[in-house]
Amino acid sequence: MPDTTDVALARAAATALGRDLVAMLTRELTRGGPVAAIAVCADSAQERTQQHQANGVLVRRVGTRVRNPLNAPDALEQAVLDRFAATIAAGGSPADTTFVADAPGGAREVRFLRPVRVQELCLACHGAAEQITPEVRQIIATRYPGDQATGYAVGELRGAVTARLTLPRSPAE
Ligand code: HEC
Repeated sequence: MPDTTDVALARAAATALGRDLVAMLTRELTRGGPVAAIAVCADSAQERTQQHQANGVLVRRVGTRVRNPLNAPDALEQAVLDRFAATIAAGGSPADTTFVADAPGGAREVRFLRPVRVQELCLACHGAAEQITPEVRQIIATRYPGDQATGYAVGELRGAVTARLTLPRSPAE
């Protein structure tokens, strides 16, 4: 396993991104409801994600079915999402997962994934069609013509916050 500092950095970046986006979402939902919130989220989610890339940690969100294609999981992330979903299907609660994988150029990297599950407040934009107002549906259709991220129920796996951090090469290699 890598030095725990690397895992701690990856975990901290994932926590910070998750907190930031939920805080923004809650603030905008309170201020102007889902119509205002989705406008703000659509404009700033990617930019805010970039702002959390620090200390060499690449952090972002991925979805089981995505709204923004930029949030599509890679093969390793997809495999972990499948395991998270299987745990939920079996009545369990999936936990944060850390592992080391090969990275481009012969390097190794720490991969960290934290499961993200659907809560009540997510349904205004990710629930069944009748839970989403026509105005919000219209904004989604315009901004995300390929949207697949609706039809979710509370408790379901929505995706993950994922972080990766390239490990320094050891002198022996
Ligand atoms: C006000 C509308 C709105 C609400 C409420 C909302 N989302 Fe989203 N969600 C969005 C938008 C817009 C995107 C696409 C953002 C982007 O362009 O990266 C998105 C994307 C995501 C993604 C990234 C994967 C993808 O589909 O692109 C995850 C994960 C996610 N939301 C989880 C949640 C969770 C969990 C909640 C509840 C705590 C929630 N969302 C509530 C609008 C919303």
